Amino acid sequence: MVPAGNIDTGDDGNQKFTPDAEFSAQAHLKSQEDYETLYKRSIDDPEAFWSEVAADCHFFKKWDRVLQWNSPFAKWFVGAETNVSYNCLEHQINQGRGDHTAILWEGEPTNQDGSPKEVVQLSYKTLLAEVCKFANGLKKLGISRGDRVTLYMPMIPELAIAMLACARIGAPHSVIFGGFSAQAIADRLQDADSHYVITADGGWRRNKVVPLKSNVDEACGMTKLVKKVVVYKRCGNDIDWNDERDVWWDEVVKGMPDTCDAEHLDAEHMLFLLYTSGSTGKPKGILHTTAGYMVYTAYTAKLIFDLQPDDIYWCTADIGWITGHSYIVYGPLQNGVTTVMYEGAPNEPEWDRFWAICERYGVTKFYTAPTAIRAFMKQGPEWPAKHNLSKLKLLGSVGEPINPAAWHWYHEHIGQQRCPIVDTWWQTETGGVLITPLPGVTPTKPGSATRAFLGIDAAIVDKDGNALEPNENGLLVIRKPWPGMLRGIYGDEARFRKQYWSEIEGVYFTGDGARCDEDGYFWITGRVDDVIKVSGHRLGTAEIESSLVSHPKVAEAAVIGFPDEMTGEAIAAFVTIKGSDKPDSNLKDELRKHVATTLGAIARPKDVRFTDALPKTRSGKIMRRLLRELATKGRVEGDVTTLEDFTTIAQLHKE
Ligand code: WT7
Repeated sequence: MVPAGNIDTGDDGNQKFTPDAEFSAQAHLKSQEDYETLYKRSIDDPEAFWSEVAADCHFFKKWDRVLQWNSPFAKWFVGAETNVSYNCLEHQINQGRGDHTAILWEGEPTNQDGSPKEVVQLSYKTLLAEVCKFANGLKKLGISRGDRVTLYMPMIPELAIAMLACARIGAPHSVIFGGFSAQAIADRLQDADSHYVITADGGWRRNKVVPLKSNVDEACGMTKLVKKVVVYKRCGNDIDWNDERDVWWDEVVKGMPDTCDAEHLDAEHMLFLLYTSGSTGKPKGILHTTAGYMVYTAYTAKLIFDLQPDDIYWCTADIGWITGHSYIVYGPLQNGVTTVMYEGAPNEPEWDRFWAICERYGVTKFYTAPTAIRAFMKQGPEWPAKHNLSKLKLLGSVGEPINPAAWHWYHEHIGQQRCPIVDTWWQTETGGVLITPLPGVTPTKPGSATRAFLGIDAAIVDKDGNALEPNENGLLVIRKPWPGMLRGIYGDEARFRKQYWSEIEGVYFTGDGARCDEDGYFWITGRVDDVIKVSGHRLGTAEIESSLVSHPKVAEAAVIGFPDEMTGEAIAAFVTIKGSDKPDSNLKDELRKHVATTLGAIARPKDVRFTDALPKTRSGKIMRRLLRELATKGRVEGDVTTLEDFTTIAQLHKE
């Protein structure tokens, strides 16, 4: 084992962990000089830089121009034709990786001795054949270029197969996280005007069957859009069947040829929509296109996880989130490595499931979320200690700031003080990682996502867009376009402009607060808008409020996020009730359940408080800041001069 001697305490008192020399020697990027030189070039001449990066990918037709930037609209690799599915499959096979394992999947159910009941390994060649069969099946169902296909599936290989099949024929996919409710599916189907759904009868989670098909049935009842539902048989649970609409996956692929030419798609062809929460109203369909996203995910995955041909790489996210799109499917497959997929919960059957998986397959690179690390911390180091984790070379973190205590635990008990940790900052909108250490290069400081990735011009500014001094808290913005950036919000240009490009003139506004220290390291402090991050999952206060007021007894609701040791943030709801009934704890539970059924379990408020009135300004705006103070500190201390009715605060104090 490499000694833990590479720890300095800088002048600032911050601990710094310098990359181990052995790791750096074998890495794609080996030194700070490598990074500084490339970074300078990437910012001074982005077109030349990205054109060289893109040379690793396969294009049917080369671009005429690297970037056309008509703020806020970017076109990357203008005029090129390519296909992401081809790049993940044939392009790998053509480089001699056909028999190499592409996807290594483990289902949740286990035998008595804890071993998995099902393991599937798909080589690049087999994966290509499966993708082609399904792509041909989709075409036969009448799906073609441009049709939005909704995927609501468990974490099984068929989800990746379905995505790659859609990408192959140019039908944009819209993956919906399996934990979302029927209403959430219906809203997304409607917004995307999507006529096709791919689902499964169920999926395994904590030894129970998640009734995916029945949620889809309910959603189909709410919109009249859906023409076909393809159903993969996973759990064999009872389901309803609509003969005209529903078709088994097995029937779809039956007799289909295992070859299907990848469509030659324009660089800016829509690759997928992914719905995420914003500060207002309903979720927005973040739109990503083909070539820029492809190049950006391939390159970031390669450098940040330092992917090498024999890596067994495991990202524990669900494919229903952007992390899974970019760093389970598209990024790793474009690097020809083995990407591990696991269907179920981290504590099924016991709290060492993740470490058992790492040991079983010799996982070399492991990427997870701070909320999971904190959950493991709570269970104690004896769980990872039962397993041989000596193959691990690198650890990653994503989704929310990682608190230094969790960082140190991860470093010591999982990485055994040997593995660099990459704390990667990014968003659904950014397509790939924008701020991160490079594992062979960047000395890390626990709690900081460190520096901007190549080509990323990140800065901290005030509300007027003025750059701030080191260590001043401000807003995180990106001043130049990058290939993986979102191209819009589906069907809502005005919202796209307002949300990201108007808040601060001329730059992309992330919605995050941060500071940058004297070494140019970014410290993300969290969202500055009405977005809450619960266990790294993104939720909008407005969505939860509208779910609450859809309950017949609720008059008004205000939702805030407050710090929580395990989940990062938790949800508190302040609610006023219609009529004169006295609310009680039954109603609290009923409301929590109501949110879980209308939105999904992750949106369930941890705390519900009843009040006669909500604190508002004279113009009628709810003063969430006061509610936040109340939820975090138990009292209101800040400025209340704009508050309309002081008695509401007194009343809230009594609650
Ligand atoms: C928001 C984006 C990126 C994929 C998963 C989340 C927060 C993300 C970090 C990090 C601090 C982070 C930000 C960001 N966030 N990664 N390493 N350190 N905060 O994607 O659901 O679009 O959420 O997650 O607040 O804005 P998302």
